[in-house]
Formats: sequence, structure tokens, C-alpha cells
Amino acid sequence: MPKNDSPSVAMFSTHEFERPGFEHYAGSDLSMTYHETSLSEKTAPLAEGHDAVCCFSEDDVGAGAIRRLADAGIKLIALRSAGFNNVDLRAADRHAIPVVRVPAYSPSAVAEHAMALILCLNRKIHKAHNRVRELNFSLEGLEGFDLHGKTFGIIGTGKIGEQMARIAHGFGCKVIAFSKEKSDALVEEGWTEYLDFDEVIEQSDILSLHVPLTPETRHLIDEDALGRMKKHTMLINTGRGALIDAGALIRSLKKGGIGAAGLDVYEEEEGVFREDLSDQVLQDDTLARLLTFPNVLITSHQAFLTREALDNIAETTVDNILGYFRSAELRNEVRVDRNVASGAD
Ligand code: NAI
Repeated sequence: MPKNDSPSVAMFSTHEFERPGFEHYAGSDLSMTYHETSLSEKTAPLAEGHDAVCCFSEDDVGAGAIRRLADAGIKLIALRSAGFNNVDLRAADRHAIPVVRVPAYSPSAVAEHAMALILCLNRKIHKAHNRVRELNFSLEGLEGFDLHGKTFGIIGTGKIGEQMARIAHGFGCKVIAFSKEKSDALVEEGWTEYLDFDEVIEQSDILSLHVPLTPETRHLIDEDALGRMKKHTMLINTGRGALIDAGALIRSLKKGGIGAAGLDVYEEEEGVFREDLSDQVLQDDTLARLLTFPNVLITSHQAFLTREALDNIAETTVDNILGYFRSAELRNEVRVDRNVASGAD
């Protein structure tokens, strides 16, 4: 790998909110070209003349795009995300282009957003806000429930799930969890009860998903799982859309099978979430149906979006890129043998 003290980077899918974090490093001999467009086989030639590309979760870093990046002389793919399910790692390996990522940027940001969804849905803050603005000060239909004393189920107690457990514990909930690997810290603290998957979904009043998307976890919450939940269970997904079978969720909500759903992610969110489509006709009938339920709250994949998380993403990404070009060090490399559809952002 040729040493290069001043690498140039083509950034794809850049949003205004990310720029301050990266511009902080503008004087560090790293030159960045910002593209709002996402990376795909078609847009990959925009990387021509750069040393590296920097991508986000919405970029399609498939075999076609990687072949064209290799033709353009790209030497590194730096992800601004933790997840890499949008990258064909085998293709990157074939073209000898290493892939690096940001493994963690703010578990608190995501867990806090999950709690924001819970509180908003439960106490109907979104409805109350709209009502009051129209001088409707009535309380009818705004009843919620005390979180204190409720059973809070967590699926996946990694970095984010662990934070979620602490927040739920702070609210006085009984915390139960199912996770492939247990959190040593939670086990030591002693107030989280690890149970099997069925027990967690059957006992939870609130159920929050924090596992990565893998072939094993795809549609983890399907018709059967929804059927096992309590009628009032509030289901929260800040993990990845495809953890839930959206069709099964709609069927369950229609017949009052579960109480409410708070979704920051959606299986078919690509090309919709994070875009302003306010002057267009929504083509996704499943999403359109989900948006009609009074007990469903949807945000546009924004759980990560705090100043601290954005600063951490920029810092780690710049460090990953400079580490490679200046010191030939692959920091936070995603290896091909870890090729699972992680879905992490
Ligand atoms: P992590 O890797 O620290 O934790 C994942 C946990 O899931 C681990 O405890 C692991 O043992 C468990 N797990 C994995 N497969 C499992 C399975 N089949 N069954 C049960 N448990 C399983 O990941 P982290 O950082 O906590 O992130 C979790 C997910 O949150 C990410 O994969 C991503 O999908 C999502 N995320 C969402 C963001 C957003 O803005 N909405 C931002 C960042 C992450």
C-alpha cells in the first residue's frame, strides 16, 4: 500500500448534519469531496481521482459498485456506520480493497431514542402537542400507563441493549432479556433476568429490539412471535427494519394483537427514510398502512442522530482513513469471514 499523508476521500450519501463533524478535520491534510447522492454501481465513477470512498448505511456497496471503485483506483472503503450488510465483503476482498467501519459511536443515543419513542407513544405526546396547538385542551384519549413496575424485555444486550436495560431499570421497570451473549456488566449488576426468547416476548409489557440483522434474526418478530405477546405490549424497534415482518405487524395491529409499535427502522426504508418526499406520492403501501395506525409511531432512522454520535463517527472515520494511508494500519477492519448481514448502523 503506497504511503499517502494527504489522502483524498469521496464521501457518499452525505447529509448537512454530518458536515460539522467532518469539517473539524479539514486542516488535517485529508481532503473530502461531499456527494449527496448515494454510492451505487452507477455513481461509483464519481470516486475517480480519490484514494478512498466513505459510505453510510444507505449506500449500495455491492459487487458492481466495488468493481467500478477498483477501476477508479480506490484503495479503501471507510464506512461511517457500524453495520456492513450493504457491503459485498467478498467482492471487496477479491479487489483487495479493505473495508473499515465505526464499530460504536453512541449506544446511549440509540437507547435514549428508543425510550423517547416509548414515552411519546405511551403518554401520546405527539397527539397532545398537535391538540394544544389547535387550542384543544381536552384529555380524552390521552391515557397512558406507568412504566414503573412494568416488565421491560430486551432482545440483544450488546452495547445498545445494555444501555437500554440501564434506562429501563432507572424507570423502575423489571428488566428481562434474551441475548446470544449475555452482558457481563448486567449479570454482575444483578437486576436483569436472562430468559429464553419465548419467555421474554410472552412476559414483556414493553419489548425493545437491539440485535443485529443476520439471516438468523430476519423476521425474528413474525406472526408467531406477535401472537405470543400480551395484547397491550408495546414493541419498539431501533435495530433494523427486517427484524420485524411488517405484514405480520399490520395484521396483528389491525386485530388489536399488540398494544403499540414504535419504529425507527423499516424493512423497505431505503430510498424513503432520510429523504424529503413531502411532495410525492408514497409508493410503499405497507409503510402507508403503518402510518395510519394511531398506536404506531415512526421515525426516519434517526436514533443515532445526536451531536456526540456524529462527532464520534467523524473522529473514528478520519482516524481509520489516516491510519491506513499514513501508517498502513487497518483500524476497525471488517473482515470477510465476518460477512453477516449485521444491519447495524
Ligand atoms: P452489539 O453487537 O454490541 O450487540 C448486539 C447483541 O445482539 C449482542 O449482545 C449479541 O449477543 C446479540 N445477538 C446477536 N445475534 C443474536 C441472536 N440471533 N439472538 C439473540 N441475540 C443476538 O450491537 P449494538 O451496537 O448494540 O447494536 C445493535 C443494533 O442496533 C445494530 O445491529 C443496529 O441494527 C442497530 N443500530 C441502530 C441505529 C439507529 O440509528 N436506529 C444506530 C446504531 C445501531
